[in-house]
Amino acid sequence: KLVHTSGAPIYMETSSAPTNIATIKYWGKADAKWNTPINDSVSVTLNQDDLKAVTTVAASTAFENDRLWLNGEEEEGAADNKRFRACVDGVRALATEKKDDDGKVLVTKEDWSKMKIHVSSYNTFPTAAGLASSAAGYAALVAALALLFGAKEEFPGQLTSIARQGSGSACRSLSGGFVAWRKGGKKEDWSDSLAEQVADENHWPEIRAVIMVVSDAKKDTSSTAGMSTSVETSLLLKHRADTVVSQRMEAIEKAFLAKDFETFGQLTMADSNQFHATCLDTYPPIFYMNDVSKSIIRIIHVYNKWAGKIQAAYTFDAGPNAVIFTLEEHAVEVGALMLHYYPEFGDKYVNNPDFEKKIKDFKLDKDLLEATDKTGREPKSGEVKMMYYTSSGPGPQRLTDTILNLDPTTGLNT
Ligand code: DP6
Repeated sequence: KLVHTSGAPIYMETSSAPTNIATIKYWGKADAKWNTPINDSVSVTLNQDDLKAVTTVAASTAFENDRLWLNGEEEEGAADNKRFRACVDGVRALATEKKDDDGKVLVTKEDWSKMKIHVSSYNTFPTAAGLASSAAGYAALVAALALLFGAKEEFPGQLTSIARQGSGSACRSLSGGFVAWRKGGKKEDWSDSLAEQVADENHWPEIRAVIMVVSDAKKDTSSTAGMSTSVETSLLLKHRADTVVSQRMEAIEKAFLAKDFETFGQLTMADSNQFHATCLDTYPPIFYMNDVSKSIIRIIHVYNKWAGKIQAAYTFDAGPNAVIFTLEEHAVEVGALMLHYYPEFGDKYVNNPDFEKKIKDFKLDKDLLEATDKTGREPKSGEVKMMYYTSSGPGPQRLTDTILNLDPTTGLNT
């Protein structure tokens, strides 16, 4: 039991949460207030051993204000932020009473509203890598709050509908494996816009991701701002949402369940390309991929052609980084090919030492290199900052044995 220096109890919980990478993209809001999408989307949850957000939440009557620290820095005014409020107030509305081991009530449902909340969150991967996705952060926040308040869902997926109001893609980080976000809209309060697990992380354990962190000097247009301009101006986006995505969703979920990599990969690449086409169709246009991103696309297509089948599939979000999905049996070859054209830059270039050794030792096929050389790409370091190798993993995890982010006697960031 944690006690504040003032004598009031502090209740505290910590949760980690994964990032996710969409293979059918969310782009465009149907309702800005509820943060709901114009189309369904689906993503692979990545492994928290490699990338995760860790969030500690604490509640106490001793706290004077709601406060938030991100990677150790306090965010001033964060407690009034609409997204943060939606998550805290949304999960607290589902609170239940807290009892001690003897069944004595410590906190009633109503008591939770009398307490202020402190939140501290950090990413276990370098923020500089540009992978600091809001998805992991908001998913960890909602998962930790759900533990703290003993939240009880009124219907399955309700917590995902709350995380969605923090950041849309966050709703897909509350489960492992392959997760779909159903756009909803039949209910007036959009409570049917929620995420649903299609398959867990054990269904297709051979799935791997090689992430190329592409250097970029300029700041991207934020997803929120970008998609708002796209909805206003792109007819291609409207066509995509109205007629393309629903067919693709059905096909990719079927492919994932059947472990059909060729169909999964083809749809993943086609959908990434269409998303970036809608960005170009936005007026004024938005550019997220750069020349390095495009060179990766060319190399992957030549690689698949050489292999005679789709063995690797790229996808790009609102930035130049490439996420390349492949299967375990081809991961070293794909990693070696990437290392060949985007050689080591600085130390800790590859996150996983075992994978690093394997891709350095791997001998790439002569015909393959002859073909990929024809894309015009020459080996050159500095344009890719880091390579991440990871797999698919589970949803949020409760952490009890790690050092807490918040001091148990003051509730302040440690
Ligand atoms: C390109 O979830 O970051 O990554 O709801 O405004 O917070 P907000 O947007 P966000 O957008 C993600 C867009 C994407 C595609 C995807 O993850 O589906």
